[in-house]
Amino acid sequence: MASLRNARMVITGRGGPEVLQWVEDDLPTPGPGQVRVKVIATGVAYADILMRHGLYPVSQAFPFAPGYDIVGDIDALGDGVTGFALGQRVAALTMIGGYSRYLLVPAAHLVPVADNLDPAEAVSLVLNYVTAYQMIHRVAKLREGQSFLIHGAGGGVGTAALQLGKIAGLRMFGTASKSKLELVSALGATPIDYRADNFLDRIRQLVPDGLNAVLDSVGDKTRTDSYRCLRRGGYLVCFGVSSAVEKGKLSAALGFAWLGMMKLVPDGKHPVWFNVKWLRDAHPDWFREDLSKLFAMLAARQIQPVIAARMPLREAARANELLEKAQVSGKIILLCQE
Ligand SMILES: NC(=O)c1ccc[n+]([C@@H]2O[C@H](COP(=O)([O-])OP(=O)(O)OC[C@H]3O[C@@H](n4cnc5c(N)ncnc54)[C@H](OP(=O)(O)O)[C@@H]3O)[C@@H](O)[C@H]2O)c1
Repeated sequence: MASLRNARMVITGRGGPEVLQWVEDDLPTPGPGQVRVKVIATGVAYADILMRHGLYPVSQAFPFAPGYDIVGDIDALGDGVTGFALGQRVAALTMIGGYSRYLLVPAAHLVPVADNLDPAEAVSLVLNYVTAYQMIHRVAKLREGQSFLIHGAGGGVGTAALQLGKIAGLRMFGTASKSKLELVSALGATPIDYRADNFLDRIRQLVPDGLNAVLDSVGDKTRTDSYRCLRRGGYLVCFGVSSAVEKGKLSAALGFAWLGMMKLVPDGKHPVWFNVKWLRDAHPDWFREDLSKLFAMLAARQIQPVIAARMPLREAARANELLEKAQVSGKIILLCQE
């Protein structure tokens, strides 16, 4: 009988989506404390694009498979793994590696997933919804009636933040390009067409006292005006550098310097950087608690991930191209066993 082989889509070097290549190799064997997961679904994340362009803050030698989040079934257990069983459905934040049929994951990173959840919907929660949830509830600590603006409101994290913000009773504003404005409005936010309007002027008209938080993933192009949108005590939560892809690595580095400088300004505002993996590593209990809560909300249909497309793993290059050109609303999911 032919033995099972692994297959992955790897980034072979810096460049456009065409550098993603299909490779087949041996199945990996789990070491102590690890499990092997038969990956059912993985998300396509903006971080995958930044990594491919060499713009991600954590560098990784090529070739490697990207893939920030997975849902799959445990297929083999390494020595010393307790609390998990063969065949059990699990989720994990992996940062890289998800674009694979089989993947080794430390058991400590696994979160159980109920069998009756759709794996594509479930995987949509692991990166985007935990990011949105933790920025709203763990960092800015927004309370009912408070307000926030999110840029890229029609994207994966944006749509997640609007669904969670609505549940929390928050007043919401979202910038997006024209084709996504209707979605942003349907999710309960006041949409701002940032190409047609200046978002700072719009916020000053709509909320003269300023916002309690701005969630900013664009970086260079927006962060100074995002900061100006805040009231005293407000949080600028920077969580991405989408505009770095246009401008190059320096702009990403300058973003960190700018944040450090702004922290020294005694104006009562809080500029912070958020990274879901850093917070998961610092507080694994928060990650497990928040993701389990989100899975329960999904099971109760309180949240409904916006899935832009479900595509086979082999089509990862096309999926990356769609995300990179901002041609999709919501999350693209790769199905790894198809
Ligand atoms: N720090 C963390 O832990 C963390 C976790 C998850 C994601 N992220 C980051 O969050 C961001 C959003 O991720 P996502 O998966 O939601 O991506 P996404 O689905 O592509 O959404 C991002 C949206 O931002 C807008 N956009 C893209 N480039 C832009 C630019 N140069 N200027 C203005 N708007 C731009 C696009 O919408 P329009 O067409 O409306 O412009 C796009 O739909 C990424 O930067 C990602 O790296 C960070």
